[in-house]
Amino acid sequence: MSDPDRPSKSNDPGTQPIIRVRGLRNQFGHQVVHEDLDLDVRRGEILGVVGGSGSGKSVLMRSILALRRPDAGQIEVMGVDARSDDPADRHHIERNTGVLFQDGALFSSLTVGENVQLPLKEYYPDMVDSLRYELALLKVKLAGLPADTVEKLPSQLSGGMRKRAGIARALALDPPLLFLDEPTAGLDPIGAAAFDQLILTLQRALGLTVFLITHDLDTLYAICDRIAVLADRKVVINAPIAEVERFEHPWVQEYFHGPRARAAQQARDTNARAAGTPEPQAT
Ligand SMILES: Nc1ncnc2c1ncn2[C@@H]1O[C@H](COP(=O)(O)OP(=O)(O)OP(=O)(O)O)[C@@H](O)[C@H]1O
Ligand SMILES: [Mg+2]
Repeated sequence: MSDPDRPSKSNDPGTQPIIRVRGLRNQFGHQVVHEDLDLDVRRGEILGVVGGSGSGKSVLMRSILALRRPDAGQIEVMGVDARSDDPADRHHIERNTGVLFQDGALFSSLTVGENVQLPLKEYYPDMVDSLRYELALLKVKLAGLPADTVEKLPSQLSGGMRKRAGIARALALDPPLLFLDEPTAGLDPIGAAAFDQLILTLQRALGLTVFLITHDLDTLYAICDRIAVLADRKVVINAPIAEVERFEHPWVQEYFHGPRARAAQQARDTNARAAGTPEPQAT
């Protein structure tokens, strides 16, 4: 098992962000979604990305994944320019990233096993069927699903199980970078907490870097190393949660100090006491 504290192979793992965004601009017609947006994602961290609905979280993710060409700015993903037209660069990004989109998007006519096998088929067309099946089964189990889930159709699963199946597919190619867009939306609090723990376990076991878009305050407190806040068309702060809580910005103050935030903070403090870990400094 890899050590989560040890960065993976890189020329300069200590200082090189795994994702580097500078001066990003995205606009649709007259609507400017991002303007002069900067963001660094550090290797091996779980970065929580928050912001109001429509603030541009999903568009940011699509830009980083080279699925949308921004109107201006630079984006580097593992040292490669996400705006490049070179198929080798696009391939590099696709090969090294696993994605769980906001709308899930499993193929409904394929079993879970077949869904997970799709990226393997695309990238390793010569792989024998039995090995591909075994690898898909492994990913399904890794995502915390029972083995017989591979034979089921997405419609036969609960919402939480479908999210796990989506994770299994995102991990099919063992990517070092995992993108999750609202993974716990629609789950009950217990299911959401279990999903948070799954993300944390996978991140530690596989040494992943996770770009995690969420509205879920519990998720931010439970598993994120740092939080990037999207507001005013840019990332207004990217820091550990204790620092973000103190940040003087109307949206941040409303979000982190409203009634829902207090409940999430209490849950965090109770968990910390139960685990015998020191609570973060009161702010
Ligand atoms: N393909 C598109 N064409 C036109 N407008 C778009 C397109 N994609 C996104 N937008 C607009 O860009 C803005 C940001 O959208 P985005 O989906 O990134 O928001 P979000 O922060 O992910 O919101 P939510 O929390 O609701 O998922 C929205 O106003 C949206 O309507
Ligand atoms: Mg979105």
